[in-house]
Amino acid sequence: MSAALPSAVEQALAAAVRAPSPHNTQPWRFVVDGPQIEVWLDRNRVLTVADPAAREARLSCGAAVYNLVLMLRVNGFSAAARVLPDPAECDLLAVIRIDGDCGSSASDRRLAEAIFRRHTNRRPFSARPVSGPARSRLQSAALAAGGLLVFLDGSDRYAKVTTLVRRAEAVQAADAAFRTESAHWTGRAPESPDGVPTVAFGPPPEMPTVLPLRSSHENSALPSRPFEQDPSLAVVLTRDHGPAADVRAGLALQRVLLAATADGLATSCVSQAFETPGTRGPLLELFRGVGQPHTLVRIGHGLPVRTTSRRPVAEVTTVRDAPLR
Ligand SMILES: Cc1cc2nc3c(=O)[nH]c(=O)nc-3n(C[C@H](O)[C@H](O)[C@H](O)COP(=O)(O)O)c2cc1C
Repeated sequence: MSAALPSAVEQALAAAVRAPSPHNTQPWRFVVDGPQIEVWLDRNRVLTVADPAAREARLSCGAAVYNLVLMLRVNGFSAAARVLPDPAECDLLAVIRIDGDCGSSASDRRLAEAIFRRHTNRRPFSARPVSGPARSRLQSAALAAGGLLVFLDGSDRYAKVTTLVRRAEAVQAADAAFRTESAHWTGRAPESPDGVPTVAFGPPPEMPTVLPLRSSHENSALPSRPFEQDPSLAVVLTRDHGPAADVRAGLALQRVLLAATADGLATSCVSQAFETPGTRGPLLELFRGVGQPHTLVRIGHGLPVRTTSRRPVAEVTTVRDAPLR
């Protein structure tokens, strides 16, 4: 990457790479081309066992796009993203065009401030429920980014979804290929620039839980702890489906995660049921008529944990043409 990138672009890229991704694979590449920033899917970083269709990878890139646009806006630039702009380039997931100046709102600034604090929390949450107003704010966040957020706790879908998560977790725990892939990306040292470090794992649950987190993200060296009995669980959906919807779901997911962080809420994604063929179909079927479900998010009150590292911006960015003047 050129050292001459204006600081607004540097900051926007630094924000983009803070996006979440499965196993912290960071499946993105950025190309700065004059007033445009392209976001490409990095096929070498797609999880071939857990995510063979690259659905979760596109979702992660969508989350990176959200951070990028938001950070440009709070730095005074108007920026708009086109999703999958070129039918001949299915891995060019978005192009962000930076056009002149604009002002940012207090809400943009509040969300942007959360970008560098947001993290996945795999520890037990307290029994304190997520309040009604907080739920409404998260639902509005999803809507504002073109998605939908539906809370499942208190609905008759809750037991069905959590049953599918438990079934998928058992299937993956018994799948050697899944375990090998997972082991490759997890259990890393604290400063590892990618993958999930052991310090980001949670303790083993004291008793089997209604919503098992990934056992591959569990630190068996920690004493077991009781997890919340009825975790708040929400699903991120889009009205349509397909690769562009995957990217848009990432925008919505990221806005929800940032709004949750800004509200002092802890979150973790729960993806097992999307990843095994025997549970994915029934999961999609449960939301027929509502939308395409993309990811489940556990939301609650928990103590903050440390953030994980990322590869440096320079490693994931190419400058094709003189950047933004
Ligand atoms: C599409 C997607 C699916 C994910 N699924 C899970 C999951 O099932 N279990 C989990 O513990 N974390 C999951 N994560 C969280 C990532 O592991 C996490 O974002 C990554 O390790 C980086 O850490 P951070 O979120 O703390 O920055 C998922 C993230 C994304 C974007």
